Amino acid sequence: MALNVVVDCDPGHDDAIALMVAHRFANVVGISTVCGNAPLADTSRNALALAELAGWDTPVHSGAAGPLAGEPVHAPHVHGETGLGGAGLPAPKTELASTDAVGFLLDASKRIGDLWVVAVGPLTNVALAIEKDAAFAERVAGISIMGGSATAGNVTRTAEFNVYADPEAAAVVFGSGARLKMCGLNLTTQIQSEDGLIPRLAGQGPVPDLVARLFAFIHDRMQELVGERRAALHDPCAVLALTHPHLIRMEPRAVDVELAGHWTRGMTVVDQRTLRRQDPPNAEVAYGIDVGAALEVVLDGVLGC
Ligand code: RIB
Ligand code: CA
Repeated sequence: MALNVVVDCDPGHDDAIALMVAHRFANVVGISTVCGNAPLADTSRNALALAELAGWDTPVHSGAAGPLAGEPVHAPHVHGETGLGGAGLPAPKTELASTDAVGFLLDASKRIGDLWVVAVGPLTNVALAIEKDAAFAERVAGISIMGGSATAGNVTRTAEFNVYADPEAAAVVFGSGARLKMCGLNLTTQIQSEDGLIPRLAGQGPVPDLVARLFAFIHDRMQELVGERRAALHDPCAVLALTHPHLIRMEPRAVDVELAGHWTRGMTVVDQRTLRRQDPPNAEVAYGIDVGAALEVVLDGVLGC
C-alpha cells in the first residue's frame, strides 16, 4: 500500500532534497509551505519552482507567514537570502493551489487515510491545524518531524532552528497526542553531504544538476561558518523515518518544548533518564542511522527525479 504523505516545508536546501526523496519513495499528496529558512513568499516560490523543474504535479499550498508568537526567524547565512541560494531556478510559471495550507492539511486528513505529515520546517502550519481541529492529531497516521535535538542545538546552545523559529507551535504539536517521530540534530548531523557526492550528480539530469549546485552553495556556506565543506542532510531524515524505517533507530521518549527559559527557550527537553521512573513517552526519538545506506537512498531519490 502506498505511503501517503504531505510535506510541510521551508525550502531550503535540505527541504528540497527531502521533497525529492519523498516523491521517489512515497505518494506525496501535497506540499505546504511555511515561513522559516526564508520568508513565506520565498519558500513558496522555491517549492513551486522545484516542483516545476522535477515535473511533479503536486499541489503547493502556502501557509503561515510567521510564528504563533514573536517575530519570524530566517537562515540566510545558510540557505541564502532567497532560501535556495545557488539553485539558479527560473521564476515558476505555476500558481499556488491555495494560500490556505491549514485548510489543505485538515481537508487532506479527512480525505486520505493513513496520511503522514512530514514536517521539516517550523511547525506553525501543523500547530494551527491542530488548534483549529484537535481531531487532526488523531486523524493523521502521524507526524514525522525534522526538529529539535536530544543533545545540542544549532541556533542556540540548546535550540534547533525549526523549533526555535516557533517554539509555541512545537509545544502544540508535542502536546497534541499525535503519533510523533522526531529526527533531531543528534540524529541528522550524523548524515552529511560532502563535495565528493557532486560528481555522482552533475550531468545526470536537471534535478541532479540542481542538487549538485545546492551542495556546492551550502558547502561554501558551511566552509565560512564552521570551516568544513559538508552539510547535514537534516530534512531527508524525516522522510527516511517513514520510507526506510529500518535505517533509523528510534526510542520512545517523553519530549517537551521549553518556552520560558532564558538559555533554553526552544529546547526539546527529552527524558533520557535510565531510571524506571521515566515520564510517559509522547514521541519516537531517533538516535542512530545507517549512514552509508541512507546516503545511497537519498542519492537514489535525487537521481530518480
Ligand atoms: O535545523 C535544521 C532545520 O532548519 C532544517 O529543516 C533546515 O531546512 C532548517 O529549516
Ligand atoms: Ca527545513
